[in-house]
This record gives sequence, C-alpha cells and structure tokens, in this order.
Amino acid sequence: MKIKFGFGNTSEPKDNRQGLGKRRPQLSAPRINNSPPDLRNKDLFVSRDKLKCIKDLDKLVGLENVKELFEEIYSFVKIDKRRQQEGLVSTPMVFHMIFKGNPGTGKTTVARLMGKFFRELGVLEKGHLHEVERADLVGEYVGHTAQKTRDQIRKSLGGVLFIDEAYSLARGGGRDFGREAIDALVKSMEDYRKELVIILAGYKEEMDLFIESNPGLRSRFPIQLEFQDFSVVQLTDIAMMMFGERQFFLTPEAEKHLETIINEEALDGHRYSGNGRFVRNLVEKTIRNQALRLAKSKSLTREQLILVEACDLPASSYKIKRNDTLVSYEMAKRMLTPGG
Ligand SMILES: Nc1ncnc2c1ncn2[C@@H]1O[C@H](COP(=O)(O)OP(=O)(O)OP(=O)(O)O)[C@@H](O)[C@H]1O
Ligand SMILES: [Mg+2]
Repeated sequence: MKIKFGFGNTSEPKDNRQGLGKRRPQLSAPRINNSPPDLRNKDLFVSRDKLKCIKDLDKLVGLENVKELFEEIYSFVKIDKRRQQEGLVSTPMVFHMIFKGNPGTGKTTVARLMGKFFRELGVLEKGHLHEVERADLVGEYVGHTAQKTRDQIRKSLGGVLFIDEAYSLARGGGRDFGREAIDALVKSMEDYRKELVIILAGYKEEMDLFIESNPGLRSRFPIQLEFQDFSVVQLTDIAMMMFGERQFFLTPEAEKHLETIINEEALDGHRYSGNGRFVRNLVEKTIRNQALRLAKSKSLTREQLILVEACDLPASSYKIKRNDTLVSYEMAKRMLTPGG
C-alpha cells in the first residue's frame, strides 16, 4: 500500500515551479501575538546526548557507579530547572564528593570530567580541575595554613578543587596544621557554596578512617564513590582503546602478547593490579618501541605506521622505569641522525 503524505484536494499548483516567486494573496492581516511565548512545557535544558563529557564518560571502561551518578546529577539539575520554570521551590544540592580507590583507578580522570559536566549543566562557571595535595594547603606556622588554603580555594573558584590523598591532612595529630586546613576548607565551603565543588580523594581504608574521625565532613561530602581495581579484561580493553585512539592497531599475535603481559603484571595482588596508569605506560612504551623498529626503514607505508607487532610490546618481565622515555628518545634520535 502506498502511503500518501499531503492534505488531500488542495488548490496548490501541481508543479511547484509555477508557484516560485508568486505570493499568495493575503486574505486578512496577519495576527500579531504580543504575549510572551509559553515556555512552561518546553524542554529548554541541554539534551543529555549533546553533552560532550557524557560522550567521553561513555567511552571509559567500567565505572558503572560513576556513570550512574552522572545520570542522577543530570536528571536532578534538569528537573530542578524545570521546577524553577514553574515557580516551584528549588532544592539546594551539595555536590562535594569523596573518591576512594587505589592508584590508577580513574579518580583524577573522572574528577576532570565532573568539572566539565558541571560547566555544561550550568552549575559551575568554568569547570576546571585544580588539583592539590597536602603540601599545597598546609603551612609551617600559625596562620600560614589558612592563608595557603584560601589561595588554593581562590584558584579553584568556578571549578573543582581536587585534594589528592586528602587523608594526609589528618596526619600528625592535634598539633599538626592539617587540622587548620580542614577548618579553612569547611569555612570556604560555606562561603562559596555555589562557586565550587570539592573532591577529596585517596585510598579507601585511609579515607574511611579520615571521614570517621571528622564527623563534620561526612555530612558536608554527601556523595561517596568507590573506584574498583580494573580486572585483567578491563585493563586489556583500556589498552586496546588507548591504541585505537592513537590510531595504532595490533596484529593478533601482538594482542595475545598484550594479554599475557597484563595477566602477568596486573593480576590481583601483583604490583600493578587494577592500575590504568600501568596500562597507559605500557601502551606508550610499545608505541616508542614501534617507532624504534620503523625508524630503521628507509620508506614506510601507511599500514606499517599503523600496525603494532608482538615484538613492539615489552617483554612480560618488563618494569616501567622513569628513564624509559629518555633512553628511547636518545636511541631514536641517534638512528634518525644521518651516519648516526
Ligand atoms: N575507566 C577508564 N577507562 C579508560 N582509561 C582509564 C579509565 N580509568 C583510568 N584510565 C586511564 O588510566 C590512567 C590513570 O587514571 P587516573 O590518573 O585517573 O587514576 P587515579 O585514580 O587518579 O590515580 P592516582 O591515585 O595514582 O592519582 C589514565 O591514563 C586514564 O586515562
Ligand atoms: Mg590521580
């Protein structure tokens, strides 16, 4: 059956070209509506799929609880704005958070996205991440700490103040200036309620103890997120994603070798278990190795530039050293120098 789109028997000319340039006679003066548009039922809020940070978040491996929290905050802000349109009372919401997890589990990555998210939602003006640690907040004499902490707060206004290893502020007992930093933070949280989101981050056990020993903090940081160690499968997915983003693709042998390395180095209880940073270093070291291999060739095809072979991956007993970059760079430079 053919479906017709149209309005039945109209007097419109059949050939559209005939109508071009001709104006239909106006039968009556157009009615002008002076009243303001009724926006009450219009969804004026930015749609979820248009948010860049949500697209970036969706790309991240795992982190289901983080993804749920973003949905929750998005819905809350959207509905609260809609309620305001109706003249209803808006619920003040506190977005200060605590991130608990081992190194390399994505805490800084998520905090950075969170800042961008709040900016896109119109909650924060800038959405930048200002990352500090104990030494940036705690001073050496009375009054120094409050001043240092205020300086850091000022730098983070309009964005996120991310305090890494925040539990170390409670180090050293009663006479330590860390306590003063906590007091200055709490005061600033009240003063700049709408201009700042504070995220405290650190290992789970230490953060739990920190919060328990500072009951005032628990209610001021109502959102708590746990970052689980990545499984071997997730770490392999992260590695594949990182290669893909950088436009490198692995041969099947290279992929197998990658899995072996991750299994040996990053399995539960091993030194780099569940650690995304280990994977990033591994990916970057592999890319440098591939460059070393290719730099020996006189002419290179596009395919060669893209393909990573098993021999490019470091041996499974490989340990990431600080001077890896330097060594590879120096070697590559020597190889690229004519006569070198
Ligand atoms: N879910 C994820 N998907 C893909 N890559 C990730 C994910 N989480 C982390 N990464 C990558 O792993 C690396 C380490 O992440 P990040 O620096 O956020 O960890 P962290 O928890 O802040 O570590 P630390 O406590 O040592 O500071 C980064 O390169 C990041 O891009
Ligand atoms: Mg970090």
